[in-house]
Amino acid sequence: MKNPTENNWLLYCRPGFEQDCAQEVLRLARQQRPVTVIEQPAIQADSGYVQIALNEQTLKYRELIFSRQLIRLHHSIAVLSERDRLTPILTAIANLPGNFGTLWLEVPDTNDGKLLATFTRRFQPLLETALREQNRLVDDIKLPRLHIFFPDKSSALIGSSDPHNSSPAIMGIVRQSMPAEAPSRSTMKLAEAIEVFMDRSEQTRLLRAGMQAVDLGAAPGGWTWQLVKRGIRVTAVDNGPMKGASAKHPLVEHLKQDGFKFAPRKAVDWLVCDMVEKPAKVATLIGDWFAAGWCKHAIFNLKLPMKQRLVAVDSALGGIRKRLDDEGINYKMIAKQLYHDRDEITVFLTKTKG
Ligand SMILES: C[S@@+](CC[C@H](N)C(=O)[O-])C[C@H]1O[C@@H](n2cnc3c(N)ncnc32)[C@H](O)[C@@H]1O
Repeated sequence: MKNPTENNWLLYCRPGFEQDCAQEVLRLARQQRPVTVIEQPAIQADSGYVQIALNEQTLKYRELIFSRQLIRLHHSIAVLSERDRLTPILTAIANLPGNFGTLWLEVPDTNDGKLLATFTRRFQPLLETALREQNRLVDDIKLPRLHIFFPDKSSALIGSSDPHNSSPAIMGIVRQSMPAEAPSRSTMKLAEAIEVFMDRSEQTRLLRAGMQAVDLGAAPGGWTWQLVKRGIRVTAVDNGPMKGASAKHPLVEHLKQDGFKFAPRKAVDWLVCDMVEKPAKVATLIGDWFAAGWCKHAIFNLKLPMKQRLVAVDSALGGIRKRLDDEGINYKMIAKQLYHDRDEITVFLTKTKG
């Protein structure tokens, strides 16, 4: 690749989702400037990243479901010599305007990428010291971040991200640790969703002790556990058994019922839903809950089909938007394929004031 101009982007994604990531970006770009012909990006399957050239468009990180990180790509170094990687990288950075607030050395989220982590750990202080001496790297989190992405040990992509339009986490991965008391690993999905979708003040405002929630498809109880540990009372709906800390918790009422038929006795604050079902069916259910006024906020998972994943996502989210618009409900909806999501995405939907 030649040195790209300002309109080249580097996006990270879950390995295996490169097509979805690229298709989604191209679609957004076409919506902004429909007449523009955009070059089809060369996709490397299972690489965990996508490079894409667009004409003038601005992308909004929050609108991208399959992108973990959004980076403006400034320069690519196709061949890095093993003897001196530092000089060509510093030379490329010297040609970039402005200063940077953070330096992130990143690798693909693949097994090959993991093998590079030892190298990046050793390389980081060398590069950081040199950039600090040149006053190109200063401690200011408001300044753009400098990303040096190593697809492998002998090439590098150099780009920057806007802290207001990107993920705040290195490699775009908001990792969670598995709490010993939680009954399932799924708990990390809801923990990540809360951190990704809500800032600290929203978390404090929207997840308060004394609130009421319904968890559809709750068993064995990882999502329920995230809620009860915040003091929220949960009606856990699932024919399967609740386990561990969620089984006998005083704030949990377990109902062995069909989540698609369950109706709450009175409105609750939260609906969470992790049932394994077709996205269209879950989307209709979520629309029904909001239309009936049964909840104010929801976090739910949409399991993706093997093929036409973006089409299924668009159709499900489009269906919810239409239903809420028809009902005159104001809302905010954000969807993301989280790090702890596999063949699925997670959605946050909340009612807003008019
Ligand atoms: C991925 S698991 C949920 C894991 C859970 N969120 C946790 O953190 O432990 C999906 C659950 O949905 C339940 N489920 C699927 N269809 C359902 C339905 N129609 N009604 C109620 N539960 C359902 C299954 O029994 C299963 O326990």
